[in-house]
Amino acid sequence: MAGAMPRRLRPPEQPITLEVDGHTIHAQDGEPVAVALVAADETLTARSIKYHRPRGPSCFSGACSNCLMRVDGVPNVATCQVPARQGMRVERQNAFPDAKLDVLQATDWVFPKWFNHHTFLAGVPLAEDLLLKIARKLAGLGLLPDRAAPPLPVATVTREPIVIVGAGAAGLAAARCFEAARAPYLVLEKGSAAGGRLLTAAEDGLPPVFDCPPAKLALDSTVVGLFADDGVPYLVVKHGEQLRVIVFDQLLLANGGHPPFAVFENNDLPGIYAARAVSGLLRRHRVLVGDVVACVGDLSEARALASLLTGAGAKAVAVGQTPLKAHGFSRVEALTVRDGPRTAKVDCDAVALCGPPSPAFELGRAAGGKVSWEPKSQLFVLEADAAGRTAASNVWAAGELRGAMSAAAAAEQGLVAAESILAARRSAP
Ligand code: FES
Repeated sequence: MAGAMPRRLRPPEQPITLEVDGHTIHAQDGEPVAVALVAADETLTARSIKYHRPRGPSCFSGACSNCLMRVDGVPNVATCQVPARQGMRVERQNAFPDAKLDVLQATDWVFPKWFNHHTFLAGVPLAEDLLLKIARKLAGLGLLPDRAAPPLPVATVTREPIVIVGAGAAGLAAARCFEAARAPYLVLEKGSAAGGRLLTAAEDGLPPVFDCPPAKLALDSTVVGLFADDGVPYLVVKHGEQLRVIVFDQLLLANGGHPPFAVFENNDLPGIYAARAVSGLLRRHRVLVGDVVACVGDLSEARALASLLTGAGAKAVAVGQTPLKAHGFSRVEALTVRDGPRTAKVDCDAVALCGPPSPAFELGRAAGGKVSWEPKSQLFVLEADAAGRTAASNVWAAGELRGAMSAAAAAEQGLVAAESILAARRSAP
């Protein structure tokens, strides 16, 4: 362990308190619960379901499931996506007797390679029955909720001429174009604010965030599927507990990518974050993940992040190097890295994984778009032509789901796709 633990660089302006496994922590009203946890140096959120390895938030974008906790009696809540409110009760999951002293972590030591739980002791008299009883008590993700869920509201059905999925660099550039052309449009954004990496990334030259009119921006709206009935395509969108069915004429996919993941030993320790999570915590919430941060992976992003961290008083180490093994018991304390022919072990409080996100091509593929392998970036990308047109009719794409690119390039693609959509609408019979 290198230096000071995570901390806030400024006190909360609207302070509240949360209860975490019976202890009180301080938070800023409305910030994500996981941000409050990291700021309070509570980086352990749970134990993994099988080997009981420690878990902690890592992506801060609702993509990794490492921050799942029990919140106010409801299990498996993604705490990076839930705003903190006064008196919230937050509990760690999947541990006995508790996540910090989980005796079931012995599983990880007893089976240092792996074991197949489907066949483990199967067919062995008595042992099989005993294991079944134990598994029924201990397996599963969290415990049942305190209360039955309230009835779900009835789904709404609307029709929109143009729908943009994602309010990041590409989506907002398109929205700006539609706004200027007085064209009707709706932006769906799964997060609680528009901006995407414009709010979180460390890169230079980020375009400004377009202030999308509230009536045309649906926040906390996650597209859960794209379907078609009788040839009419529509999106199914989860907005809080409300389900929305949105029939569209033109669809612009600008939903970016999933946080990068690097393969190395112990890469799941708490304190290992996606780079944009580290820069986002600092830029949006003034929370520093540690005094010494290993910024590994893609060199240009690592340098930009290192510069941001250094400006906030932290130290960046192993900048752009390749991670080989993380060290630590319930959080990362050091990292073995390779730098050319040399390997070295560096002390650190946190690790930031730099690199392009994995393009989120799933919706495009569901729509009938083509996905292809891009050898240069080693990514699967959604194919689109220069105008942003995909192989699916009336479905367009812009930004990181088409491959690794800067925010400025993503914004340019968003603009080009929006102009193409406007041209297509003008020429429609
Ligand atoms: S899902 Fe919350 S940190 Fe990844």
